[in-house]
Amino acid sequence: MSGSTETWTSVPVARALGGEVRVPGDKSISHRAVMFASLAEGVSRVSGFLEGEDTRATARAFAAMGVRVDAPSASERVVHGVGLAGLAAPARPIDCGNAGTGMRLLTGILAGQAFDTTLVGDASLSRRPMRRVIEPLARMGARIDAQDGGLPPLTVRGGRDLVGIDYALPVASAQVKSAILLAGLYAKGETSIAEPHPTRDYTERMLAAFGWPIAFGEGRASLDGGHRLRATDVVVPADFSSAAFFLVAASIVPGSDLLLRDVGVNPRRTGLVDALRLMGADIRAENPRQLGGEPVADLRVRHATLRGVDVPAALVPDMIDEFPILFVAAAAASGTTRVTGAAELRVKESDRIAVMARGLRALGVAVEETPDGAVVEGGRIGGGEVDSAGDHRCAMSFAVAGLVAGGTVRIADCANVATSFPGFADLANGCGFALSTGA
Ligand code: S3P
Repeated sequence: MSGSTETWTSVPVARALGGEVRVPGDKSISHRAVMFASLAEGVSRVSGFLEGEDTRATARAFAAMGVRVDAPSASERVVHGVGLAGLAAPARPIDCGNAGTGMRLLTGILAGQAFDTTLVGDASLSRRPMRRVIEPLARMGARIDAQDGGLPPLTVRGGRDLVGIDYALPVASAQVKSAILLAGLYAKGETSIAEPHPTRDYTERMLAAFGWPIAFGEGRASLDGGHRLRATDVVVPADFSSAAFFLVAASIVPGSDLLLRDVGVNPRRTGLVDALRLMGADIRAENPRQLGGEPVADLRVRHATLRGVDVPAALVPDMIDEFPILFVAAAAASGTTRVTGAAELRVKESDRIAVMARGLRALGVAVEETPDGAVVEGGRIGGGEVDSAGDHRCAMSFAVAGLVAGGTVRIADCANVATSFPGFADLANGCGFALSTGA
C-alpha cells in the first residue's frame, strides 16, 4: 500500500526453473464478478476470486452499499445481489485503493444511483486521469465532480436521468468502455461504443452471462437500458498478467521448463505470447478448454534464446499490462527491442516507461525512452538497486530481472504486489527464484 516501502532482494539463480504454477485469479474478471453479482437479483458464487488488495477494495465498496458479500474461503465470494436499484448510500467515501478498474467501473455504476458517492484512492490512483470516464458519462447526463486536472477524489452525483449515447472511444480502454456500458444499464435507450482497437471484452461477456441483452464483437458493443441482471455463478481463470512474469522468467533462465495451469487466454490479453514468440520464445498452449465461458489453457514455457524485435504496435492493446516484463525480456535478449504506440503506459499505476527505463539503466542496460515507448539494447543485466515506484508489475518484473543479473538486485517499494498477486514470492521461490521480501 502506498506509504509502506517493502524492499525485495532477488539473487541470480544458478539452476533452471521448473515445476507447475497456478497463479491467482484474474483481476479484471474478479472485479467485474463482484460488481455484476451485487447488481443482480439472487445469490451468485464467485470461485477462483483474486484475493488481492484491489479486488478486496471492490468487494468492500459493495458491502458499504448494503450488499452482503460472504467469503467462505480466500478464493470464493458469495454475493447476495440487491438488484439494479438496490444499492444504499455508503456512510463514508469509498476507498478504491490502487485500483483504476475499481474506480472507473464504479463511476459508471454510481452515475445511475439515487445517492451521491465520493470515490477516493491511494497516491498512485489519485494521479490517474479520470476525464476519460467523466466526459462520456457527462454526455449521458451524469454529474461527476473531480479535482483539478480531472483527478480523484471523484464525487458522483445521484438522482440524474441518464440517456444512452453513441460514443467513439478516443483511447483503447476497457475500463472506459466498461464504465459507459455500466451507466448504460441505467440509461434510457441505447448505449453504443466503438473502440479504436478491440479491448478485453469481459464486461460484455459477463453482462450476457448475467442475462443482459448485449450485442458485441470486433471493437463494438451496444445495449439498451431497463433490463435486469440475474444471479449466476462465475468461475475465474488464472490471471494471464500474473502468469506473464513466469513466461519471461522461464524463457530467460537456461534449462527452464515450467507449466502454468488454468491460464485465461482471451486473445485480448495474450499479446505478450505473440511478442515473445517473435523474439524466439518456446511457449505452448496445452489442454485448451473453456472455463466459466472464458478460454483457458495450461501454458508450457521452456528456455529459449531471445532476440530483440520491433514490437508490432497492433499488439499493444492486447499486452497493455505486460510491458514492464516485456522490457525485462528485451534486456535479457540479444539485440535491440523497440516499443512504439504505447503512450498509455505513462498513465498506469506508475509511468511504466519511465520507471522501467530508470530501473533497467540502474542495472546497466541501455534504454532510451521515447514519448510512446522505449528502445532497449539487450545483452547483459547487472546487479544494483532499483525503485518500483510502488507499481506491482514493475516490482515483479525487476524480481525476474534479478534471476539472470550479474549480481543481486534490490527492489524498493514492493508492498503493492499484494494488489494483484499476493503470494508471488512464495510461488516464485517454489519454482526456483531466490527472492526475499524483507522489510
Ligand atoms: C483493465 C483494463 C486496462 C488494464 C487494466 C485492467 C480492465 O486498463 O490496463 O489493468 O479490467 O478493464 P485501461 O482500460 O486503462 O486500458
